Amino acid sequence: MAGAAAGAVALAACGTGSGSSSNSGTGDTVAPAGPAGTAVGTLSEVEVGKCKSVTVSGQPAILARPTDSTAACFSAICTHQGCTVAPAGNELHCPCHGSVFNALTGAVKKGPAEQPLPSIPVKVDGTNVVTA
Ligand code: FES
Repeated sequence: MAGAAAGAVALAACGTGSGSSSNSGTGDTVAPAGPAGTAVGTLSEVEVGKCKSVTVSGQPAILARPTDSTAACFSAICTHQGCTVAPAGNELHCPCHGSVFNALTGAVKKGPAEQPLPSIPVKVDGTNVVTA
């Protein structure tokens, strides 16, 4: 019963206090993704060149399959104001203000968002995609 104490922190991030931001980017933006080896999904559930919504460590994320044997993963939290983006073919559309991201790279294709979606490092392990 000692193992579950650490889980409650992440949900409070949208509150009123700004608090200390411990994750301000220094170039590459990388989303927290939990311990390496966390299952993200399987390659076969994503068409080549497309993407799907997944959950990584309780956070909304996007699993993309740029090529037959590679995977990419991004936070699904829009870098504009934090809405959850939705897959649309090889793009990700934000429902709030219309930002569009490249689903295979996380890059901004259309604003108002200016920053790419933070990447979540993943690797292909057999047919599974896990955090790296
Ligand atoms: S929150 Fe996504 S475009 Fe504004």
